[in-house]
Amino acid sequence: MLIEKYFSIDRKNAQDLINATKDMTNGKSGDNGFQNTKVFLFKEYAVLKMQNMNFRNVTVNDNSLKHLERLAGTLLDLQSQGVNTVPVSAFQSNDGSGYIIQPRAKGTELYDRHKLNDKSYVLKQVELLSLAPQEHFDKFVADTVKIINAGVSVDFMGKDNFFYHKVIGFQFIDLNAHNDYEYGLTDFKPDGLQTAAYYCFLPCYFDTAPQHRDTVSELLPELTGEEYTFLIEHNRIIFNKCIAAMMNNGITKELIDEVLSNDRIIPQKKLLELV
Ligand SMILES: Nc1ncnc2c1ncn2[C@@H]1O[C@H](COP(=O)(O)OP(=O)(O)O)[C@@H](O)[C@H]1O
Ligand SMILES: [Mg+2]
Repeated sequence: MLIEKYFSIDRKNAQDLINATKDMTNGKSGDNGFQNTKVFLFKEYAVLKMQNMNFRNVTVNDNSLKHLERLAGTLLDLQSQGVNTVPVSAFQSNDGSGYIIQPRAKGTELYDRHKLNDKSYVLKQVELLSLAPQEHFDKFVADTVKIINAGVSVDFMGKDNFFYHKVIGFQFIDLNAHNDYEYGLTDFKPDGLQTAAYYCFLPCYFDTAPQHRDTVSELLPELTGEEYTFLIEHNRIIFNKCIAAMMNNGITKELIDEVLSNDRIIPQKKLLELV
């Protein structure tokens, strides 16, 4: 069954973009084999070619794609409130295989998972993010709170689900679904401020899941003394801006201390001399 919806791009423009992908190789790919996402980047748009779009959050079947339509509405609503979400501009699905068109996020991934072995890349990103103004960090936290409170799931495990641009600041991509609470499947309603306290350290350089990919302890020994000092000092600037942003958004010092005492949060915090 073919299902197509157009929200902020017309059918002709959407079809032109989709047709153009057929002669292109994908610039990026997703990291879940089930949906096998291939991402084609255009100047203003990203076209995501996917399988199993008829599953919400990879687990719940929804052949009608109502979840995606609902998500598109929520993301457009968040965007109209000034939240830096990348919305769904359109989708087309043929029995679950098809395309999602989004505006292209501006700037670059916080940390591109394919470049984490390249020390000059990491040093450059850490410098860039350390120079980001406090207001950008404040908005990152404020936007996280609004997205979570709107019931949308954010994949905080991937630092490439967040972009940074010098003027626009932090943006959120890979917003795939509303959470289970929104569908009455659990009593647990994620709280915006609580979630932000746990996850808004992401602009810092560290591995979110070192059991899968410990690039930090691989990279550190490769650095010269000077590079090591540069990394540690700039990363600490980012860390302190994250903490300030949380406090500017009303997260208490007690909660931040509790989060930082949790081994799962910034697992390499001692190695990186953050605490
Ligand atoms: N709207 C977009 N703008 C710019 N780059 C994007 C966009 N959507 C995806 N990408 C790129 O493709 C990668 C994979 O897309 P993503 O939606 O995160 O897939 P997955 O859900 O498999 O992680 C992203 O990390 C990013 O590098
Ligand atoms: Mg992703």
